[in-house]
Amino acid sequence: MSISTALAVPEPGFAALMAARPHLAMDAMAGLLFEGVPLAAIADALGTPVWVYGAATMRGRYHALRAALDAAGLDAGVHYAVKANDHLAVLALFGAEGAGADVVSEGELRRAHAAGIPARRIVFSGVGKTLGEIRLALAEGIAQINIESAEELAMVSAVATAMDRRAPVALRVNPDVDAGTHPKIATGRAGDKFGIPYGDAAALYAHAATLPGIAPVGLAVHIGSQITAMAPYRAAYGRIAELVRSLRAQGLVVARVDCGGGLGIGYRDEPAAAPAAFAGAIRATLGDLGLRLMIEPGRWLVGPAGVLLASVVLVKQARPRRFVVLDAAMNDLLRPALYGAWHGIVPLSAVDAAAPASPAEIAGPVCESGDIFATDRALPPLEAGARVAILDAGAYGAVMSSTYNARPLAPQALVDGDTGAWRTIRVRQSHAELWAGELMPGRVA
Ligand code: LLP
Repeated sequence: MSISTALAVPEPGFAALMAARPHLAMDAMAGLLFEGVPLAAIADALGTPVWVYGAATMRGRYHALRAALDAAGLDAGVHYAVKANDHLAVLALFGAEGAGADVVSEGELRRAHAAGIPARRIVFSGVGKTLGEIRLALAEGIAQINIESAEELAMVSAVATAMDRRAPVALRVNPDVDAGTHPKIATGRAGDKFGIPYGDAAALYAHAATLPGIAPVGLAVHIGSQITAMAPYRAAYGRIAELVRSLRAQGLVVARVDCGGGLGIGYRDEPAAAPAAFAGAIRATLGDLGLRLMIEPGRWLVGPAGVLLASVVLVKQARPRRFVVLDAAMNDLLRPALYGAWHGIVPLSAVDAAAPASPAEIAGPVCESGDIFATDRALPPLEAGARVAILDAGAYGAVMSSTYNARPLAPQALVDGDTGAWRTIRVRQSHAELWAGELMPGRVA
């Protein structure tokens, strides 16, 4: 064992991973259960790789968050961040529970619409909304457009005026707060591409109030993703509260604050963000301003509620390394390759799970050295054909998949612990679909 390994914090074993995830259980006969449904049955029926989501887990998490906001006495709407998992069944599930949506593209807006979430419960975020997207949002009667720049404010004003509408807009402010997360998913530091610089926000808000076609309704802030400490939230919301007070002192109306998303989950052994602590941070900073509040959580709602099932293709001994090569790859789940993200990996078979573990590299078959799911991970002897679940893959999993190496998109299934049943919610993409739409012109003349 290398010194760095010896000094590293030990990784959680299967028992610890399961204990922290009440929706998962290991049955001696049926193997790994997700909301009581044997995952092996889904892998048998649909093949691997396959994504599996838990409806009861998603509903339970939504209600836990809702309850925390209500208990804190906050007038707050939950706008599910569609980007985390945009499957129609997932959107419809949250919509049916009363959630709104946070969208960042025409495609997400149309998805939310198709899943039955009305535009009056939808917020449109993002740094580069096109004229077409702004037009569509206004035509649909969007609840709010979060403006990221003076340039975008001018675009919205022009489009809304031409349509004879008034666009409800919030200014997304960059509070210059470091969320203490992975640099690729931090969005609230000065110099990040997101939001209006804090120092420019007050003047732009006053300007917005004079523009035709614009109804300034409030402020928005989103400082990053996978945030597990509350201090950055408190710092950011404190700065927003200051801005609300100073705008109001100038006689401007600020009715809403969109607090963004970013709530982190426990992938390894980091403590997940607690809904009560998050609600408490909002209440302590923004609670006394009589605001209509909004939040835009994605990962926290769906991350733990999804797994990616994969089969071992072969085990390649390249001493001292043991490469367990799966049939899932970075094209399916990109997070480990892109962020060095840690995801739990648990065998589907109880026999495999109980076998003595030794270090392994868990790899995908894609032709990139970065196509590695885990390094130096203590795992049992997993032979060809053995199956594993890659945990916490419900957020930023299937949505970030590509077909690199001409690998079709994997199917998706939904289990529901409340009924004990499961359904296919997306069939595996066929190879022919990969090149449907491609043209072979021969010699281009
Ligand atoms: N609101 C806005 C404006 C956002 O940009 C995001 C995420 C959210 C809400 C939802 O954040 P959440 O609650 O899910 O943290 N692909 C990365 C995460 C990118 C997050 C992008 N923005 C990952 O796999 O970790």
